[in-house]
Amino acid sequence: MKLPELRIGNITPRFPIIQGGMSVSVSTAPLAGAVAKAGGIGVIGATGISTGKLTEEIREARSLSGGGIIGVNIMFAARDFAELVQTSIREGIDVIFTGAGFSRDIFRWVKDSRTEVVPIVSSARAARLAERSGAKAVVAEGSEAGGHLGTEQSIKEILPEIVKEVKIPVIAAGGLIDGYDMAEMVNLGAGGVQMATRFVLSEECTVSSHYKQAYLAAREEDVIIIKSPVGMPGQAIRNNFTKLIYQGEAPKPDHCDACLRECSRDYCILQALNNAKNGLLDEGIIFAGKNVAKINSILPVEAIFNKILTEYATV
Ligand SMILES: Cc1cc2nc3c(=O)[nH]c(=O)nc-3n(C[C@H](O)[C@H](O)[C@H](O)COP(=O)(O)O)c2cc1C
Repeated sequence: MKLPELRIGNITPRFPIIQGGMSVSVSTAPLAGAVAKAGGIGVIGATGISTGKLTEEIREARSLSGGGIIGVNIMFAARDFAELVQTSIREGIDVIFTGAGFSRDIFRWVKDSRTEVVPIVSSARAARLAERSGAKAVVAEGSEAGGHLGTEQSIKEILPEIVKEVKIPVIAAGGLIDGYDMAEMVNLGAGGVQMATRFVLSEECTVSSHYKQAYLAAREEDVIIIKSPVGMPGQAIRNNFTKLIYQGEAPKPDHCDACLRECSRDYCILQALNNAKNGLLDEGIIFAGKNVAKINSILPVEAIFNKILTEYATV
C-alpha cells in the first residue's frame, strides 16, 4: 500500500508518522529528536515543565533531529498554556499539538511565525471548529489512547465521521502500534497516524526502566480508566496508586502550584505523573494506551520505524 503524503501547512514529514506528545516528561528531547531523524514528527511533551526547561528541550531535540521536524504538545488545561506556546513559537518550533480544551487565541499567536497548530479532537464537531479556526490538520483521538481521553468511542468509529466533516488531513490516534494498524487507518481515510505507547518502549525514551518494565508486564486487563483531577478520564496501567484513586484514598496534595486552570485537587496529577516516570511506580500514574499488552520489545526508534514501514508495505 502506498504511503499518504501528510502535508500540514508548510511541513511535510518524510513518513506520515507522529510520535504523540507525552507529559510529564515522558517524551523528551532524545525521543523526539530520534523520531524526527527517522523521518516522522518527534513531539516533546511540554505540559508540566517550566518554560526554561522547554527551551532546553526544544534546542536539544533539534540538535538530534538531523534537520527533521520537531513539535511540542501543550495541554490547554494547563494554566501556563500561553507561556509555553509563546516559548515554543520563539524557539521556532515546527508544530504545536494542543488538546484537553480548545484555544482560538493560539491561531492568532502563530500568525506571524512559521509554526503550525494541530488540535487534538475526538468529534466531528470539534474537528470542524479547528478547521474553521485555521488548523491545517487535526489529530483524531479515540478511546484506545493513553492519557486523558475526550471520548468513549473507538478511533475506528470516530475517524470516518471526522474525515467526512473536514477537508484538512486527519491524523488517527489511539491504540495503534504497528504498520497493519496504520494501513487500517489509512483505509479509513487517515492522512497519517500518531502513536505514543509504542514509542515509550523505545531505547530513546528517557523514563525510568521500571516504567518500561510496567509496560512490558501489562496484560490487556491491566489497562483501566481512572478519574483525573483535570476533569477528564485517563487511561493507565493498574497499580497501587490507581487502587488508591478507586478507593478515594489517593493522597491529597500538601502543596499546590495551581498548575491547571481547573483541578478537583483529589490528588496531584503532576506529582503522580512525575513519580511514575522517575520509577516511583507505587506513588505514580503510568498512562498507557489500550494495546500496550501487544508490544513486547524495547527497540531503537529507527528499528520501530523500519518495522512499521515494512509491515505497512506488505498490506
Ligand atoms: C504516557 C502518556 C502520556 C501522554 N501525555 C499526553 C499529553 O500530555 N498531551 C496529549 O495531548 N496527549 C498525551 N498522551 C496521548 C498521546 O499523545 C497519544 O495521542 C495517544 O496515547 C495515542 O494512543 P497510543 O498511546 O495507544 O498510541 C499521552 C499518552 C501516554 C501514553
